[in-house]
Amino acid sequence: MSAAAKPSAAVQVAELRRMREAGEKIACLTCYDASFALLEDRAGVDVVLVGDSLGMVIHGRDTTTAVTVADIAYHTRLVAPHLKRAFLVADLPFLSYATRERALDAAQRLMQEGGAKMVKLEGGREQADIVEYLAVRGVPVCAHLGLQPQLIHKLGAFKVQGREEAAAVAMLRDARVLEEAGSDLMVLECIPSSLGKRITEQAHIPVIGIGAGPDTSGQILVLQDILNISPSVTLGHKPRFVKNFMQGAPDIEGAIRAYVQAVKSGAYPGPEHCFQ
Ligand code: KIV
Repeated sequence: MSAAAKPSAAVQVAELRRMREAGEKIACLTCYDASFALLEDRAGVDVVLVGDSLGMVIHGRDTTTAVTVADIAYHTRLVAPHLKRAFLVADLPFLSYATRERALDAAQRLMQEGGAKMVKLEGGREQADIVEYLAVRGVPVCAHLGLQPQLIHKLGAFKVQGREEAAAVAMLRDARVLEEAGSDLMVLECIPSSLGKRITEQAHIPVIGIGAGPDTSGQILVLQDILNISPSVTLGHKPRFVKNFMQGAPDIEGAIRAYVQAVKSGAYPGPEHCFQ
């Protein structure tokens, strides 16, 4: 078989680590069904996330609070069979990892029923115990710092985190503790670019940003946001980090390819998508 005809190998944790070390940007995108899974995989998305953002973009709610493990397992099951190359991560929804036992049960469902290869959970050092409990049992974990949408009813609004130096230092420490607990990947949401850079430089694992500046190991966005059809875009609440990749694209697959290309080349995010 010629090199050109050789199918790309499925992305694994080791490949994500290699990409980070080689300085190759990692393109990540959310996905919730078979049609988009096929397109995202073909367009070269490296990591597909079945995020609890489905509560907002699929179910049409204002927050992610009502999303259940059954919801994530269902959508993960729709996506998994259609990914030949992309690495599949599934979100642990609100309160599903409140205890070690619940976290393990939820992770088991998402991996065994859903076909996920990693689970993602929100929170700082207070989650280290859960991360370690899962990791030592063979569950790859992605941590999620910065804006934690599951805390919306404590925060009161989706807003930028880590602007004050004390909060930035606390987040740097959270990132270190979560990595030491066994996280294999980390998402940073809605933080100043300078903090995104500091956490990425400190880390030994790939760090994926969403509104965290251009210096993370990769980027993630919500599928419906890049296609300009999410409720937040339609209702005029487009977050700063969102870019409409349908603009100038011939079709949906073209928009996803343009997103992947922009992440890989560093063209996205631009300064207009970042926070100071
Ligand atoms: O739920 C989700 O889609 C996410 C990403 C926005 C990172 O957590």
